[in-house]
Amino acid sequence: MRLSRYFLPVLKETPADAQIASHRFMLRAGMIRQQAAGIYSWLPLGFKVLKRIEQIVHEEQQRAGHIPVLMPTIQPADLWQESGRYNAYGPEMLRVRDRHDRDMLFGPTNEEMITDIFRGSVSSYKDLPLTLYHIQWKFRDEMRPRFGVMRGREFYMKDGYNFDLDEAAAHHAYNRHLVSYLRTYERMGLQAIPMKAEGGPIGGDYTHEFLVLADTGESGVFYDARIEDIRLGSREIDYDSVDQCRGVLDEFTELYARTDDTHDAADFEDAVPEEHRREARGIEVGQIFYFGTKYSEPMGATVQGPDGKPVPVHMGSHGIGVSRLVGAIIEASRDDKGIIWPEGVTPFHCGIVNLKQGDAEADAACESLYAGLTALGLEPLYDDRNERAGGKFATMDLIGLPWRITVGPRGLKNGVVELTSRRTGESEEMPPEQALERIGSIYSGV
Ligand SMILES: Nc1ncnc2c1ncn2[C@@H]1O[C@H](COP(=O)(O)OP(=O)(O)OP(=O)(O)O)[C@@H](O)[C@H]1O
Ligand SMILES: [Mg+2]
Repeated sequence: MRLSRYFLPVLKETPADAQIASHRFMLRAGMIRQQAAGIYSWLPLGFKVLKRIEQIVHEEQQRAGHIPVLMPTIQPADLWQESGRYNAYGPEMLRVRDRHDRDMLFGPTNEEMITDIFRGSVSSYKDLPLTLYHIQWKFRDEMRPRFGVMRGREFYMKDGYNFDLDEAAAHHAYNRHLVSYLRTYERMGLQAIPMKAEGGPIGGDYTHEFLVLADTGESGVFYDARIEDIRLGSREIDYDSVDQCRGVLDEFTELYARTDDTHDAADFEDAVPEEHRREARGIEVGQIFYFGTKYSEPMGATVQGPDGKPVPVHMGSHGIGVSRLVGAIIEASRDDKGIIWPEGVTPFHCGIVNLKQGDAEADAACESLYAGLTALGLEPLYDDRNERAGGKFATMDLIGLPWRITVGPRGLKNGVVELTSRRTGESEEMPPEQALERIGSIYSGV
């Protein structure tokens, strides 16, 4: 993409009503536009990041054996009357009526609908285990939408649902989700710590939230500092292996880590030596639940068991805040100049800054780098505008591409361009071919 042809409506002024850095940077970098409280349009740069995150979520879900579907945003109320949640959900649910006076709603989540799909098609234990998921817009009429996409009213969420024959099998599904979530967040350059949490309106006592540590987080968290050293990394996990998935869950949940909802001061002191105790803030980027037969029983989602008798299936649901993650990643990765995208989610892989647009040699060198990066399967963003260098650097720093190649007549006389890391700010001069090679090898490991 050439910046001269792109739509990147960067703001010079800091928006007054944005309280936290990610919201400010998303507005200033032209990623989103607010349309109503908690409702946003995604402009090209923001949309690209959203899609990169969505893609990682899809890949990791399918690696774990989960099957994608797409359910509608608008749901009939009668499904929710069956489960008893139509009244219980309260004013967070956006209720609408169609022209035939039928009660409908904009889905805040999909337990009822997926249970309806399941009961309509699955009747034997032989079809289990089954996990279906989708990534779809949700609406929750939050009391205080704020912090941009972090607490929206309309937001993009991955929600998945497992159907299993018994509690043990459903626990494996739960553990499998925990592993796949850890991998998902790590690919986005994030550490999200699983913490014991409360069920809320989804229900169920067995649940973990995934929290990204950040001062601006809405949740209070209490944890053992040693948990910050644990990573899944590149280890191979067999998602069918009960022991391996269980092992990862044990490893990641052994140390004390709880949100303020479940925190217990006495337990904390018992479990954690004083020097390791941490009290901090966190952003909830996902949650997994096991809730047994809470929906399958009232809604009649049963299968024929091995002995021929009907049994209600054991279920869980598992959510990732896809749109919230865009803000959470920025909270975790930024400086005073702007965003610093982790390689896994960056909207463009590398920026190219031409210091002297119109100079035949500089223009040609930029074109050749552009072609070279494209040939590597990467997406460059070439600032080919007739602007001063300072303005170009400020834009690149704001939008946060992790790597930048700067091309100017002076360097080219010596046969070099400059490769700069957004994260460290360090620059290195090298021949253009070597810069291409470096960028290529950085992204081949992502
Ligand atoms: N209003 C919202 N805006 C953006 N993302 C959200 C919102 N509500 C929930 N999410 C995301 O969807 C994920 C799964 O939804 P879940 O039902 O667990 O939310 P929740 O626990 O009600 O969230 P919260 O406690 O933050 O209100 C959450 O972990 C979060 O990342
Ligand atoms: Mg939650």
